[in-house]
Amino acid sequence: MRSTRTVALTIATAVAVALTLTACGQSGEGGSKEEKKGGEGSTVGIAMPTKSSERWIADGNNMVAQFKKLGYKTDLQYGEDDVDQQVSQVENMITKGVDVLVVASIDGRALSDVLRQAGEQGIKVIAYDRLILGSPDVDYYASFDNEKVGELQAGYIVDKLGLKDGKEEGPFNVELFAGSPDDNNTGYFFEGAWKTLKPYIDKKQIVVRSKQTKLDQVTTLRWDGGTAQKRMDDLLTSAYSSEQVDAVLSPYDGISIGVLSALKSDGYGTKAKPYPVVTGQDAEVASVKSIIAGQQTQTVYKDTRALAKQAVQMADAVLNDRKPEVNDTKTYDNEKKVVPSFLLDPVSVDKSNYRSMLVDSGYIKASDL
Ligand code: GAL
Repeated sequence: MRSTRTVALTIATAVAVALTLTACGQSGEGGSKEEKKGGEGSTVGIAMPTKSSERWIADGNNMVAQFKKLGYKTDLQYGEDDVDQQVSQVENMITKGVDVLVVASIDGRALSDVLRQAGEQGIKVIAYDRLILGSPDVDYYASFDNEKVGELQAGYIVDKLGLKDGKEEGPFNVELFAGSPDDNNTGYFFEGAWKTLKPYIDKKQIVVRSKQTKLDQVTTLRWDGGTAQKRMDDLLTSAYSSEQVDAVLSPYDGISIGVLSALKSDGYGTKAKPYPVVTGQDAEVASVKSIIAGQQTQTVYKDTRALAKQAVQMADAVLNDRKPEVNDTKTYDNEKKVVPSFLLDPVSVDKSNYRSMLVDSGYIKASDL
């Protein structure tokens, strides 16, 4: 039998060895992160929401290309609009030891737990286009001026209907659509649009015949075009049996395409029953073609190449102990902190300027249109 003293000594030695090992592990790990600084060899985890929209495919590809140029490795994953899938993708990236995360969330509130793990491991998090809510572990945000997107869409409607310059008095029938309720951008887009339309609604120059004007009455889960088509079908049946709709506020091209399908099925698109003004967002090829064909009227162009560039500069800066460039430190409060942001400028595009804005800038190839 071993004496108590020997046991105590053995334990003490074991503890000492364990402590040394732990210390080595930590410094080893920290050391390797140190060594990777400057880009070479660091891995960026990129979590994107879905491939069902071409913009996110472009966002992912643009970032991968730009990170590669700087010597980074990338792990790009798409959550296919499945919240749990995105959470586990991000979790796996953390387990695999990525050095920084860039996340365009599906549900802005679903990532707090997983990002806590990132925070604990010193992995910085950049929210991409959509702000991540309710988490202190979000370091930076790259996006567009989202309220301005809504102002551009609604401003286009007011202008196109002739209300802005007083050429027309109205009343005009307008219906409202908003994006996914779990996307923080949805509220900003709608707020910008509502502010712009409200004075005309108050003066009864714009009438929303369905009476659905509250955000929670007009959202479209996961930005789904089919869901929007069904709602537009219902609106046309319930509120437009004897009247025509003059404009539809649509926050996103995928929704606009759904709305236009419902309008087509209802006989719109003729001289007697022309298409209403239909807005959009993202300048997706199908919608630009629709604009050229005189169906969708407008879209908001947000250059995903420029957005990717901002996210890449942010990631590169944090990995090199530099402060990322930001231009807004007030607007984006995620309920835990105001997240320092870089906001780009959205641009309204219609038939009159799509060539100069989208084709001449190389955003869309003329042959794709
Ligand atoms: C939003 C984004 C829009 C549009 C939409 C649907 O978060 O800001 O540009 O892409 O998602 O994907």
